[in-house]
Amino acid sequence: MAGAIAYISRGPDGPLWRAALEKGLGPVDFRPSDMLGDKADIEVAMAWKPPQGLLASLPNLKLIVSLGMGVDHLLADGRVPSGVPIVRIMDEGLIGQMTEYALYWALHHHRDIDKYAENQRDTRWREEPFVDTANRRVGVLGLGSIGQDTSDKFSKLGFPTAGWSRTAKNLPGVETFHGRESLPRFLGRSDILVNVLPLTRETHGLLDAAAFAALPKGAYVINMARGGHVVDEALLAALDSGHLSGAALDVFNQEPLPADHAYWRHPKVHVTPHVAGATNPRTASPGVIENIKRVRAGKPLLYAVDPASGY
Ligand code: NDP
Ligand code: OXD
Repeated sequence: MAGAIAYISRGPDGPLWRAALEKGLGPVDFRPSDMLGDKADIEVAMAWKPPQGLLASLPNLKLIVSLGMGVDHLLADGRVPSGVPIVRIMDEGLIGQMTEYALYWALHHHRDIDKYAENQRDTRWREEPFVDTANRRVGVLGLGSIGQDTSDKFSKLGFPTAGWSRTAKNLPGVETFHGRESLPRFLGRSDILVNVLPLTRETHGLLDAAAFAALPKGAYVINMARGGHVVDEALLAALDSGHLSGAALDVFNQEPLPADHAYWRHPKVHVTPHVAGATNPRTASPGVIENIKRVRAGKPLLYAVDPASGY
């Protein structure tokens, strides 16, 4: 049998991953984190938030697979062995869930659902002011595998949609902006801002007081990327001043979000516990299987991460 595959995650999906890998690869020596055995046997590590230093302690590691689409949880460990390639999952199921999350909260805001819930509590039959979809501009930060799907779906619903990325893009139905200097213009036309950037040195703290000030008055923020993109004090100040109308937040600087954090009870904030997109072994495993075959055959890998850019 080939080298062992370590499953380094506190999630419950180990048995599903094992079954999916065996379907594609035949019998595998699959080792959950608490049963790693002789670390010299480990050839592939599939990991989500591994303990710092653990990957560096695997002497014969040939491939690191991020069990999430984000890889900041791996690169944050300064001891990840530099010669070992890192790939991430590419999960169409997860991408679809992320888009659902953004659409759900955008429509919740767009159709004034919080206001109608309040009216119902007060048995008040009242029509709130109508906003034409054509006048509600959506901006998607990040035009990668998730952002392209999300911006496409918003555009197809009739929202004037734009996206922002590092390099230039040409996407049907989506106005595109790229580079730091275009950020204020992009923000200035985004009534609903959806963040789906990777967390890197360049994007950490990007959503600060200046970024919120650049959004139009009454803008709504959806953060489904990483908490580290947001300067929390700046977001709270922009909500409290009335400049922003609300926020839906799935990710936080500290997770779990501490019980005394202002977001939990803020009347303009909806909190979800990092559930916008869940890795699904059924939809994520084909790419992982292909990469394990490729690393064993010495072939170029799919979905490889560039540790220098951080995504
Ligand atoms: P990709 O790597 O496919 O795309 C990243 C996008 O961000 C690219 O368009 C890239 O630009 C752009 N980008 C990166 N750095 C910059 C920068 N400095 N300035 C402008 N644009 C930049 O990522 P995914 O779409 O797959 O995922 C995005 C993130 O979503 C993940 O990293 C993860 O943090 C988060 N996520 C959250 C989940 C949740 O449950 N809450 C679930 C899954 C993912 P370019 O195209 O030019 O390279
Ligand atoms: C991911 C996540 O990066 O779930 O996939 O956050």
